[in-house]
Amino acid sequence: MKLINVLKGEAVWPPPAWLMRQAGRYLPEYREVRAQAGDFLKLCMNPELAAEVTLQPIRRYGFDAAILFSDILILPWALGQGLRFAEGEGPLLPPIMNRADLAALSLERGVTGTAAILDTVSRVRAGLPAETALIGFAGGPFTVACYMLDGKGGGEFPRTRMLAYEDPALVEGVIELLVEGTIAYLQGQVEAGADCVMLFESWAGILPASQFRKLVIEPNRRIVAALKSRTPGLKVIGFPRLSGLLVGDYVRGTGVDAVGLDTVTDPAAAIAACPAGTVFQGNLDPLLMRVGGEALRHGVAEVLKGFRGQKHIFNLGHGITPDVKPETVGELMEYISASSP
Ligand code: CP3
Repeated sequence: MKLINVLKGEAVWPPPAWLMRQAGRYLPEYREVRAQAGDFLKLCMNPELAAEVTLQPIRRYGFDAAILFSDILILPWALGQGLRFAEGEGPLLPPIMNRADLAALSLERGVTGTAAILDTVSRVRAGLPAETALIGFAGGPFTVACYMLDGKGGGEFPRTRMLAYEDPALVEGVIELLVEGTIAYLQGQVEAGADCVMLFESWAGILPASQFRKLVIEPNRRIVAALKSRTPGLKVIGFPRLSGLLVGDYVRGTGVDAVGLDTVTDPAAAIAACPAGTVFQGNLDPLLMRVGGEALRHGVAEVLKGFRGQKHIFNLGHGITPDVKPETVGELMEYISASSP
């Protein structure tokens, strides 16, 4: 598996490639299965259909990795918090208001509630070519806590950030539960056949440095350490989106093997900030997938140049959007494979 070889520290050319949100609405075959499932949550909880949509982009493009089709908000849902995806509005959860709401969530329920996801993992592994890696994932505890405490997305999470000052014990309680739940959930994915795992800490970048260390780095570190002690050699990718200059502290402090970089991060700055040997994943502007043609070709060349001499996994800086033409992904894969080292 090219992707796992890079994570183990081998230099590989051309770099292995996969795209965040590669199974999704830009693919007509995804929209068909999604309509059949009813809604997004039902699709996630249906192992046969979730495995099918995970495999669709692999068949079409031959990516080096598949990523489990699920969502970072499945864990809070399994722990007992309500969740729905309102069309055009994104995820909505009844926010955790106090300790009683937090105490109503249960790790045992989390195990039963995620059993269908682990079933999807085994089905996907069985359906993948031997050379294609399967990436398991969970949300980073801080990012998931943002949705649990604010009750919706939007990127500002004012309630969570106020609470981090006004009632830090409540925020830390939610994160504590998520650390425990995430360790069990990701360990389950590894046992079911995931070849490596990724932590999506997508809102890491909204905190000041001291809170970033306490609410992002420390919880991520605990998850990485627990997983690696149970599965020696397991590779973990972190994605502390928008963490800017703190990316080096994140890598050193958490012990992740690889770091996903967002679109605005200059590869040279990340390389300078991170310890030697860090594997980088990223970070083409997802907007170029809507533009295509020469601009895309140039963008791919820039990304490859930016990571020259490093261990690199090609990806976008954030998820692929529903308005991308499926042909453009084919075009992207050609540009990557035709590029010279
Ligand atoms: O990358 C993949 O292909 C794997 C599957 C995956 C999804 N979500 C599927 C999904 C992964 C890894 C995620 C992670 C996720 N989910 C994150 C972290 C990564 C990031 O994007 O920053 C976050 C913040 C979420 C929460 C979430 N889920 C939001 C905000 C939304 C709504 C956005 C929208 O476009 O409507 C979702 C829904 C979601 N998750 C979809 C998919 C394919 C769209 C569902 C659909 O309508 O078919």
